Amino acid sequence: MAQEDIFKKLVAHCKEYGYVFQSSEIYDGLGAVYDYGQYGVELKNNIKKYWWDSMVLLHENVVGIDSAIFMHPTIWKASGHVDAFNDPLIDNKDSKKRYRADVLIEEQLAKIEEKINKEVDKAKKRFGDAFDEKQFRETNQRVLDNQAKWDALHNRFAQALNDGNLDELRQIIVDEEIACPISGTRNWTDVRQFNLMFATEMGSTADGALKVYLRPETAQGIFVNYLNVQKTGRMKIPFGIAQIGKAFRNEIVARQFIFRMREFEQMEMQFFVRPGSELDWFEKWKETRMKWHRALGFGDENYRFHEHEKLAHYANAAVDVEYKFPFGFKEVEGIHSRTDFDLSQHEKFSGKKIRYFDPELNESYVPYVVETSIGVDRMFLQVISASYCEEQLEKDSRVVLKIPAVLAPVKLAVMPLVKKDGLPEKAREIIDNLKFDFNCQYDEKDSIGKRYRRQDAIGTPFCVTVDHQTAEDNSVTIRYRDTMEQERVAIADLGKIIGAQVSMKNLFGKI
Ligand code: GAP
Repeated sequence: MAQEDIFKKLVAHCKEYGYVFQSSEIYDGLGAVYDYGQYGVELKNNIKKYWWDSMVLLHENVVGIDSAIFMHPTIWKASGHVDAFNDPLIDNKDSKKRYRADVLIEEQLAKIEEKINKEVDKAKKRFGDAFDEKQFRETNQRVLDNQAKWDALHNRFAQALNDGNLDELRQIIVDEEIACPISGTRNWTDVRQFNLMFATEMGSTADGALKVYLRPETAQGIFVNYLNVQKTGRMKIPFGIAQIGKAFRNEIVARQFIFRMREFEQMEMQFFVRPGSELDWFEKWKETRMKWHRALGFGDENYRFHEHEKLAHYANAAVDVEYKFPFGFKEVEGIHSRTDFDLSQHEKFSGKKIRYFDPELNESYVPYVVETSIGVDRMFLQVISASYCEEQLEKDSRVVLKIPAVLAPVKLAVMPLVKKDGLPEKAREIIDNLKFDFNCQYDEKDSIGKRYRRQDAIGTPFCVTVDHQTAEDNSVTIRYRDTMEQERVAIADLGKIIGAQVSMKNLFGKI
């Protein structure tokens, strides 16, 4: 099945099974804003717990905060967001649709890459085990031609971005003959910069209302609390501050479901280090964060690092962790070496000293910062994309979400085989014993087969069936979602069996 069809199916699945709903749906929706349903919120909470604990439990020098969404407007002047948090936009004059110029060019690059990969895959099939991919890439003429095309376009694009040359971005679109997907024409306007921050007013207009912004990243809430945390927590450099919270961006090209939203959630950690050590820490956090992703078992080949074409105004190194979504490799997380830019700017704009006295060096300095920044919603989409499976079975088929048991919204469903003979009561008794440790669901409607399918579709890793034998020997069958195998076990052992599989320790051991 085409990857695009799979993506459409998983979007529909998210809605049908209570994971994600369009915001304000009964009023025809609000663009690029989504609500999480009864299972979605559980998955989201589990993702956040996995991230939070991996930061603040596993690192004694990382602590958390929860700062406000509204902040003093000068913060955004100091951070550079008022002047430079822009997207280069271009409009198609026929369809009147607006696009991000850089995204149009990136998609063109991805198309060339796709051609190369297709060529490689074809040869791989033809030559089987004897295939030498490196040699093939270095000698096949079609691959070489496309690679040369990719390199030339990539260099031109990177140069235009670095120079902030909007005319050149437009010229690339024209030269590459990129057409609007809606109108099919190449009738483009100039490229213009568009600021992504949402603004609102605080206080009544009579008093002279203050223009405030909805934060476009949570990081600034950490920077402006650096001194508070360092002093009250007696933190010694190197140390980190972690935060999870909402961020808002007026995204113009909002597509691909929850991949690019106008209201989303970030999990960010700013790690404060001695100047000069930041690139070592950058490498260390790159490695740690990649291990965090890979620990989920979605396949190492589905991740890669992507170096930035253009460094943000505050960074001296930056890389994205990309995951292979059904619509291609895309950014899930950014790791940035932000230098002392933010703290120095806040020193300048606030007039307050933001320094660290390093007792080992016997000197004060503005710390450098390495940041890890991941979107909760993109991580959610990664989990759903990796977990969604359609399986053909002997007699029928099933749709199953093979969400890692640690993250699954519901850990077990308890099902009485029939609604009589004391089986429902026994099932409820099991839930009453396990509900303090695991999210349990009671399910007695329909045949056992239908109930299994229902639980497969929401990704419940364990189904426990109570039958007539249960009354005799206090045993039940436990059915495993991924293998569909069943086992007879003692009720007394259920907590241990399930606990071993859903413990976050399984993941933390791999980081
Ligand atoms: N503090 C640095 C920062 O905000 P970013 O690369 O702009 O860096 C970090 O964003 C992460 O936030 C991204 O890797 C992505 O996961 C998530 N993110 C950014 N914009 C988003 C959007 N419009 N919708 C969903 N997630 C988004």
